[in-house]
Amino acid sequence: MRRIAIANQKGGCGKTTTAVCLALCLKDMGSKVLVTDMDPQGSATQSLYPDKESLEQTVYDLLVDSDTVPLSGVINRIDTDLDLLPANVVLSSAEQTLAGKERREERLRSVLDRVEEDYDFTIIDSPPNIGLLTFNALTAAEEVIIPVDPSFFSLQGVSRVVEALELLENINGHKTTYRVLATMYDSRTRISRELVSALRTSYADSSFNTIIRNNITLKESTGFGVPITNYRGSRGFYDYRSLAHEVLGKDPTQKAIEIEAIQNFLAPRRIGGGVLFSYMDGEVDDIDIEGDFNSWDHTGNALLDIDGRGLWQRVISLKPGEHRYRFVVDGRAVIDPNNARTEFLDGRGLVSVTAV
Ligand SMILES: Nc1ncnc2c1ncn2[C@@H]1O[C@H](COP(=O)(O)OP(=O)(O)OP(=O)(O)O)[C@@H](O)[C@H]1O
Ligand SMILES: [Mg+2]
Repeated sequence: MRRIAIANQKGGCGKTTTAVCLALCLKDMGSKVLVTDMDPQGSATQSLYPDKESLEQTVYDLLVDSDTVPLSGVINRIDTDLDLLPANVVLSSAEQTLAGKERREERLRSVLDRVEEDYDFTIIDSPPNIGLLTFNALTAAEEVIIPVDPSFFSLQGVSRVVEALELLENINGHKTTYRVLATMYDSRTRISRELVSALRTSYADSSFNTIIRNNITLKESTGFGVPITNYRGSRGFYDYRSLAHEVLGKDPTQKAIEIEAIQNFLAPRRIGGGVLFSYMDGEVDDIDIEGDFNSWDHTGNALLDIDGRGLWQRVISLKPGEHRYRFVVDGRAVIDPNNARTEFLDGRGLVSVTAV
């Protein structure tokens, strides 16, 4: 079982969202996953198990008495291949209960040793401070993901986690690898762009290539307990799936092949008497098409969200040959992201070109 802790003392930087969405994507890609909640706020628990008040036992019971409490009463089945070791506010008393006890930061590691053979992964969510609970999470893990949202405190939080990892290694020889993950990225803001370049400079060998973009679907899906894997057209799903790919260490060329396959599927292609135009985006309300075939007038040329999840398509009757076009997404003209061929037209700007 690979044990991955998600940690950063900065509050609200995307720890829980990363823990839950990564777990869901890994499960979706065929792994058996346990989500371990080590935060007394119980946000990961809430998002996977909305009736969390009804839980009789939580990770707290195991931390306090890791040898005799049966796991079956504490671990909850959420879905096929997805289980939850939940937490609630009672966990906030662990620091006091375990005060003075020996090896108290190794409690979670002993608990997870008992399920070592049962899962491919456990993803451990942790609270926004570096106290006993986070030390337990870091000691139980071999890998750490440090989410960083675009803020100074979040970047500072990375150093705190790295210091804690060094401390643990000095105290008990426990070695962990860590990787930094940029979250809530908004390309329109300067701080987002600066943050990513700072991470790429300071943590060149220990940051993910994947960047998690700011995305309302992530907020909604975790808030309402709806798995992100239900929103396949959303950017949140793409980004966390890409993170899961990196975590699985999939050959980047394999990923490139998949992206190419999707692009080939979405690029304009001839079917029957016309050309099928496609655009994928689960976050928009209207998509039209304009081109030399309709005098660049997109009115009455809407694409249809054919699966209700953001795959927009329209067939246009066209003679074989070259055609220039653009999509109009929520009123804004854009080139086709799945067609590399573009051209600059006087008075119109950049347009896509297809020959089908
Ligand atoms: N990529 C994203 N785009 C938009 N909203 C996001 C994104 N990631 C997380 N959020 C939202 O931001 C808020 C904080 O995220 P989250 O709860 O994952 O952070 P956290 O680090 O676990 O917080 P805490 O420190 O309180 O545990 C939540 O409302 C969440 O839905
Ligand atoms: Mg959280």
